[in-house]
Amino acid sequence: MASAQAAVIGYGVVGKRVADAVSAQSDMDLVGVVDVVPSDLVRVAAERGYPIYAGTSAAVDGFKGAGIEPAGTIDELLGKIDVAIDCSPPGVTAKNVERYKQVGVKYIVQGGEAHGLTDFSFNAFANYSDAIGRSAARVVSCNTTSECRLLSTLDRTFGVVDAFIAITRRGVDPVDIKKGPINATVPALPGFSHHAPDVQTIMPEINVRSLAVVASTTLMHVHMLRLQLRDPATPDSVRELLASTPRVRLVSGKGGIASTAHIIEWARDMGRPRNDHWEIAIWEDSIVVDENGVLYLLMAVHMESVIVPENVDCIRAMCELESSARRSIEATDLTFGIERAEEQYAVFA
Ligand SMILES: NC(=O)c1ccc[n+]([C@@H]2O[C@H](COP(=O)([O-])OP(=O)(O)OC[C@H]3O[C@@H](n4cnc5c(N)ncnc54)[C@H](O)[C@@H]3O)[C@@H](O)[C@H]2O)c1
Repeated sequence: MASAQAAVIGYGVVGKRVADAVSAQSDMDLVGVVDVVPSDLVRVAAERGYPIYAGTSAAVDGFKGAGIEPAGTIDELLGKIDVAIDCSPPGVTAKNVERYKQVGVKYIVQGGEAHGLTDFSFNAFANYSDAIGRSAARVVSCNTTSECRLLSTLDRTFGVVDAFIAITRRGVDPVDIKKGPINATVPALPGFSHHAPDVQTIMPEINVRSLAVVASTTLMHVHMLRLQLRDPATPDSVRELLASTPRVRLVSGKGGIASTAHIIEWARDMGRPRNDHWEIAIWEDSIVVDENGVLYLLMAVHMESVIVPENVDCIRAMCELESSARRSIEATDLTFGIERAEEQYAVFA
C-alpha cells in the first residue's frame, strides 16, 4: 500500500487530535470523520476541510439541521477506506467493530477498550513489528502508553527486574462537565489498579504492580515509579538515557517546571495545538538511585495527546507502509515538530 486511506470514527477529545495527525502524514489520507452530534466542535472538522459522515442514519438529519452537510453515512465511508481509527466512547466501539469486520476494513481501537476486543495491544516503542499487516489493534491508554515508552527504554539499557507505579490520575478531561471528583481523592479499589496488567498486555516479561488514585485536577496524570534494575545505574546515566530518547522530555523544578500546571503553560507558550504535550515529561530532579540500586522518578502524562503519535505509527504498521519502527517513529515525530537527531532513533528496530 503506497498510502493508507483512513477515517476517524468519533470526533471527540482523542478523535480530533488523531484526525489532525493523520491528515499531516504524507503517506496517509484522511477520507472522513464520523460523529453523531452536530455540535460546533464537529463544525470545526468541517471548517478544516474534513468530510463529515454521520454515525447513524438519524444523525444525517441532525447534521443537516445544524447546517453541516454530511458527505454520507458511516457505511458509505467504510467502503472507501483501508483503516478505521475508532475513537468513539466505550460501548459504541464494540458495536462499530462488528461493522468493520463485516466490511473487511482494518481497525484500531483506543485504550478504553479491553485487550480482548482486538487480542493485540500496541506501543510503537515496544512492539511495532508485531503490528505489521495486522487487521486489528488496540492503542493502549495514555497511562499504559507512557509506561511502555519509559519501561521499554529503561529495560533495554539497564534491565527492569521489578517495577512499582503509583498513579495520581486526573479526575476528568478539561472539557468534561459531568464527572468528578471535585473535592476528593478517590482510590482505585480493591488492591492493585488495572494499569500494570495493561502494561503486561504489551510487555508480559515486565514484573510490575500499580496503585492509583483519582484527584481533582484536569491537567495531567502523575506517575511515581520505583524500579529495581538489573544493571547499575546512576541518576546521571538515567538522565542521559532519557534526554536522548524520542518522545521523552526532561523537565525540572529548578527550571521552573514545578507542577503539571507549568508543563501545560509551557505547551501554551510553545504555541502547541490545544496545549498538547505528546512526550512523556520526566522531572529530571526527581531521579534518585538508592544504595540498593533502586531507581525512583516522577513522570507526568498529558492524557489527551500522548497516545496520538502511537495511533499514527499503528496505522503505518498495520497498513504495511513502513516495516521499521525506527523510520515510522521518526517520520511521525517530524510531523509533530518533536523530532530528535537521527541517531536517537537507532535504538528502535
Ligand atoms: N480522553 C482521553 O484523555 C483519552 C486518552 C487516551 C485514550 N482515550 C480513549 O479514547 C477513546 C475515546 O475517548 P474520548 O475521550 O476521545 O471520548 P469523547 O467522548 O471525547 O469522544 C467520543 C466521540 O464519539 C462520538 N460518538 C458517540 N457515538 C458515536 C457513534 N455511534 N459513531 C461515531 N461517533 C460517536 C461522540 O459524539 C464524541 O464526539 C476511549 O476509548 C478512551 O478511553 C481517551
